[in-house]
Amino acid sequence: MAESSDTVKDLQAASFGAAAGEYERGRPTYPAEAVAWLVPETARRVVDLGAGTGKLTRALAAPGRELLAVEPSAGMRAEFARVLPRVPVLAGTGEALPPPDGWADALVCGQAWHWVDPDRAVPEAARVLAPGGQLGLVWNFRDEAEPWVAELDGLLRARGEDRTDHRQLERLEPWFGPLEEHVVRWSHPVTEQQLVDMVASRSYVITMAADERERLLGEVRALVARARPTSLPYVTHCYRARRR
Ligand SMILES: C[S@@+](CC[C@H](N)C(=O)[O-])C[C@H]1O[C@@H](n2cnc3c(N)ncnc32)[C@H](O)[C@@H]1O
Repeated sequence: MAESSDTVKDLQAASFGAAAGEYERGRPTYPAEAVAWLVPETARRVVDLGAGTGKLTRALAAPGRELLAVEPSAGMRAEFARVLPRVPVLAGTGEALPPPDGWADALVCGQAWHWVDPDRAVPEAARVLAPGGQLGLVWNFRDEAEPWVAELDGLLRARGEDRTDHRQLERLEPWFGPLEEHVVRWSHPVTEQQLVDMVASRSYVITMAADERERLLGEVRALVARARPTSLPYVTHCYRARRR
């Protein structure tokens, strides 16, 4: 029997821990301009939801600021603890956050809000934020304006990479005020192996049959050996809204 799309989404959401090493090696960080826009300079307590291996968390550090990471996958939490041993990382989800009411001045979520159920995660984010606290959501998208990136994305789309917009930003009302958007264009320096790891850490690649995954990674290796890129261009979409 074919699996329902909800089951596939659940399996993919839970898949990341199996490729936490590839994730840490291959995925991009976030540009400083985006982080400065997403989190007020005055924010003293900041939660990073769906923190993964801490790609966004490490960019949030500031003097006098307390960081708390929340991440459902044990594999990702283990990699997080290896990379950022001084930042606490708790088991939790967007639907059930560990911090008490009003604890955070800011709550950010990098590349993960599309995995949450907004009907439960929006009120939960509002519960954890102090009045006037800021919710910041961010996604890095590969910039297909570069021909070799368009070719790479063609390979990934042929394997089911879903470019549908799943950002689910429309449900923040009435808990949050107006949503603002900011876009940052930047490039992430990469080696050929990091590009292969970036592909290997994608949820639908982790959950593929082993032979299919090896075939795809072989095609990616051949493409990067031909194109010889030294950086991967991204368009980073940032969103923020204040808790009412
Ligand atoms: C693409 S990774 C992003 C990790 C990290 N924030 C980053 O920017 O690299 C998505 C993360 O969302 C987590 N995740 C999946 N379902 C979640 C949920 N319901 N609530 C919070 N995080 C979730 C996954 O375990 C995974 O670590």
